[in-house]
Amino acid sequence: MPGNHIVPYANPYHPPKGATAENCAEICIEIAREQLRSNSSGGIAAFLIEPCQGTAGNVIPPDNFLPMVCDLAKEFDALVIADEMITGFGRTGRYWGCDHSGIIPDILTVGKQFGGGFPLSGVISTEKITSTKPWGNPSGSSSSYGGNPLAAAAAHASLSIIEQEDLVKNSRETGQYFLEKISHFKEKYSFIGDVRGRGLLLAIEMVADKETREPLSLDITNRIFNEFLQKGLLTMAYTARFRIQPAMTIDRGTIDNIVTIMEDVFQITEEKYL
Ligand SMILES: Cc1ncc(COP(=O)(O)O)c(C=O)c1O
Repeated sequence: MPGNHIVPYANPYHPPKGATAENCAEICIEIAREQLRSNSSGGIAAFLIEPCQGTAGNVIPPDNFLPMVCDLAKEFDALVIADEMITGFGRTGRYWGCDHSGIIPDILTVGKQFGGGFPLSGVISTEKITSTKPWGNPSGSSSSYGGNPLAAAAAHASLSIIEQEDLVKNSRETGQYFLEKISHFKEKYSFIGDVRGRGLLLAIEMVADKETREPLSLDITNRIFNEFLQKGLLTMAYTARFRIQPAMTIDRGTIDNIVTIMEDVFQITEEKYL
C-alpha cells in the first residue's frame, strides 16, 4: 500500500543487527522514529501492530515495547491499531494481548476466536473515533455483510462459552504448564534454539546452528512435520519457527500426550535427520 512503512518488530530471539534481546525494543523504536522522520511527511494516520506477532513466529516482545510504540505514535499524532486477530479473546492468557502491557489502543481488529470457527471479523473503537468522518458518514463504514445476524449470533455463542468455561484462565494456566514441560528442550536437543510462550501462544525455534540461529532447512522441517503426522499430531512444525496454538479448551492430560509425542519425534530427528 503506498505510504505504508514497515519497521522491525522487537523480537528478542532475532533482534535487528547490532541489538540484543535486552535492548531490541529501544533499537526498534529508534529505527521506526528515524524511518518516519526521514521518509515520511510526518503526517502518520496510524500505527498498526500485533501485541504478539502470530504468523511471523509467535514472537513475544519485551514488556516495554508496546508502551514505547504508543509513546512514538503520540509523537506523530497517530492512532494505535492493535491487531488482536490472533491474540484476542484469551489466546495469550489475558483477555486481550494488549492487557499484558497495560496499553489501551484506539482501535482493535478482531476475528478468528471471535466467531469460534464461523467466518467473522470486527473492528472495535471508541464512539469519538467511529463517529468521525468519513467513517461516521451514513454508509461510511457499511459493507454487504456487516452486522450479519447469523455471524453476530455465532460471536455471542463463542464469547459466552469463553466466559462460562473460563477459557482465558484455562489458556493462562495450561499455557504455563505446557511451557514448563517443554522449556528444557533448548538444552536437551541440539537443534532447538528457543522455546517461548504466553498463554496458549507458544513457539519452538528449530535451528541448524545455535550460535548463528540459522533456521533448520525446509527439507528437515518437512520430515519433522511428517513424523508428527504419523503419530497422529497435526502441527505447524513444517517451518523452523514452529508455532503451537492448541484449542483454548485443552487440558493437562492432552498436553502430556503432546509432549510425549514431541519427545519421540525430536529424538528421531536427532538420530535420523541431522
Ligand atoms: C494477525 C492477523 N491479522 C489479520 C489477519 C487477517 O484476517 P482475515 O483472514 O480474517 O482477513 C490474520 C490472518 O491470519 C492474522 O493472523
